[in-house]
Amino acid sequence: MTQRILLIVSGGIAAYKSLELVRLLRRKGIAVRAVLTESAEKFVTPLSLGVLTEDHVFGQLFDLKEEREIGHIQLSRQADLIVIAPATANILAKMANGIADDLATTILLATDKPVLAVPAMNVRMWHHRATQRNLERLRADGIHIMEPDDGDMACGEYGKGRLPEPEAIAREIERLLALPPLPDPLTDQPDFAPPPNKGGLAGRHVLITAGPTHEPIDPVRFIANRSSGKQGFAIAAAAAQAGARVTLVAGPVALPTPAGVKRVDVETAREMLGAVEAALPADVAIMVAAVADWRTADAVGQKIKKDGSGAPAPLALVENPDILATLGTSSSRPALLIGFAAETQNVTEHAQAKLAKKGADWIVANDVSGDVMGGETNAIHIVTADGVESWADMPKAAVASRLIEKVANVFRAD
Ligand code: C5P
Repeated sequence: MTQRILLIVSGGIAAYKSLELVRLLRRKGIAVRAVLTESAEKFVTPLSLGVLTEDHVFGQLFDLKEEREIGHIQLSRQADLIVIAPATANILAKMANGIADDLATTILLATDKPVLAVPAMNVRMWHHRATQRNLERLRADGIHIMEPDDGDMACGEYGKGRLPEPEAIAREIERLLALPPLPDPLTDQPDFAPPPNKGGLAGRHVLITAGPTHEPIDPVRFIANRSSGKQGFAIAAAAAQAGARVTLVAGPVALPTPAGVKRVDVETAREMLGAVEAALPADVAIMVAAVADWRTADAVGQKIKKDGSGAPAPLALVENPDILATLGTSSSRPALLIGFAAETQNVTEHAQAKLAKKGADWIVANDVSGDVMGGETNAIHIVTADGVESWADMPKAAVASRLIEKVANVFRAD
């Protein structure tokens, strides 16, 4: 079934980026209906948004025609997720205080759907205590909030407050769409429904490795692999959303840091091991990185030249430390230790062997003979002492959410 977003564009200079966001979402097969606040119309026209969404663009609460044909309740009812991008300090303040004085804020007050706010504003407005107070309230109300990026501002200042890149927003939207639906506060028993957005990992430290490692040969060459880091980053985002304190030790990848995650960038396997050990203790470690098994015995300081004989330069390799296995026998071994296993054949058999060899609790095995490395979806088998659980192919964000849900269940059962 097509998933549907109601995109509220509020009036900031970054509003023009909403057009690119719509384009990306449509390309992923997500339907978008847009609502523009009055000030947003100064930055982007209903016509351009209408062309990209292939839908009517809504704006006026008191436009009788719009209310008759499709009321504000209907607009929210027909969406799986409401996204406010950009969300100005003004709309966040109204939301935090339950003000409903236009179509956008009325929808936001009346909705029972999950809401993602993507703030963008001047750095001083972002750091203002009023804005930070409002954000705190909104988080407590279960609103998902993306952290703005750092950088140059349209107003000439520098700092935090830039709208995250549309690709990052689209990824966060996909992740939220993959989460199980929220309980309906009007009909669900509070005793049985977990509080929205509190998450099952509150108070836990989750340590994640992601991406490849680069093992230098000389100053310009290195040994690497095709890992994109997408699956590990998605898991870090899902763990943070579930309330965990997350440390993400990332190999060289070009991915934005998920909201609420502490990221430590490393290059080599040995640096990754050092960063992992420095981040301990952790309640859960999920080792998703495709760590290079070997490094060169002696990386040289100068670029290796052809010697004219036609013979290739000798490349002596030595084995890298196994980070997962090191944690498996560590005195500060996390209570739940999860490894990944990228295999091209006999996937579950190899994963079963790895479980014992590495001293892990779960091995998440995937077949990488297709385009999993760098691709958008993943089909996994979770191998534990109790057996094998296989999940159908699904977006990496959905794998991440379900995996984190399974991790949280371990701690709920404690
Ligand atoms: O042995 P293999 O590389 O298939 O094992 C994969 C699992 O072990 C992954 O969880 C990976 O992050 C971890 N690993 C590691 N250190 C290595 C090699 C693999 O932590 N040197």
